[in-house]
Amino acid sequence: MGAVIVDGKAIALSIEKTISQGVTQLASEGVSPHLVVIIVGEDPASRVYVRNKQRACERCGIESTLIEMSEDSTQEEVLDMVESLNSDDSVHGILVQSPIPGDVDELAVASAISPRKDVDGFHPANLGRLVQGDSSGLMPCTPAGVIRMLEHSGMELVGAKAAVLGRSRIVGMPMSLMLASKGVDATVTIVHSRTHDVELICRESDIVIAAMGRPHLVKSDWVKPGAYVVDVGISRTDGGELAGDVDPQVAKVAGWMTPVPGGVGPMTIAMLMENTLTAARQS
Ligand code: GUN
Repeated sequence: MGAVIVDGKAIALSIEKTISQGVTQLASEGVSPHLVVIIVGEDPASRVYVRNKQRACERCGIESTLIEMSEDSTQEEVLDMVESLNSDDSVHGILVQSPIPGDVDELAVASAISPRKDVDGFHPANLGRLVQGDSSGLMPCTPAGVIRMLEHSGMELVGAKAAVLGRSRIVGMPMSLMLASKGVDATVTIVHSRTHDVELICRESDIVIAAMGRPHLVKSDWVKPGAYVVDVGISRTDGGELAGDVDPQVAKVAGWMTPVPGGVGPMTIAMLMENTLTAARQS
């Protein structure tokens, strides 16, 4: 029997329905949630991601504004823009799309966004709360979306062995913290480019989260039969096709598998909508 293919798009749409009810309620109290997305340059993939975020805002009734800055914008110009949005009370969420071209320091930009408007959850104060086991801040969207998918599938997380492949600031590190946090209670191994026995670690895991950005890295003989495999990767093959970090053959072994596209991506956007609503509620 093959894996259940987890329909991230459908789960995300049902979450967005609840969010739109929350938006309507908040609007009746006089607060209209408003997300501002800044895009620097013309990267085609970023354009697609940003358009998808705007469409989600429309579905949820969240006001969205797109600020387009030129490819050669300086760090000072980007920081000035963030600063002006920080002090604009009509703006509840600020997101600067990554990657930012040129010499702009993304960490400096993430740190400049007010933690209360940091709907990406990348500000050191929000990541720091995560370390302290405090989930009242704005959580990074992709890891939050993955946890929701696991819960939606009824996956037993308490005591489960989870391998997180990748240690990025955006996915791997916060994902590991969330899985190991009190109340989720998984046991996590962080796997990275210098890890020994990666295949063995994966084979012993009940949950494998692949976020290395290496197309089809995770093979079927790496996976324990019945395991839950989450594919966070999204790259293009030389032939131009979208590819996740998990080989499609894994579906023959795994119990659950998230597809690319249509898995983690829509969940990330739903969590962005949820963070924007939360930020507006707390404004
Ligand atoms: N680029 C790709 N994914 C993301 C994301 O979740 N947030 C931001 N700001 N940029 C991205």
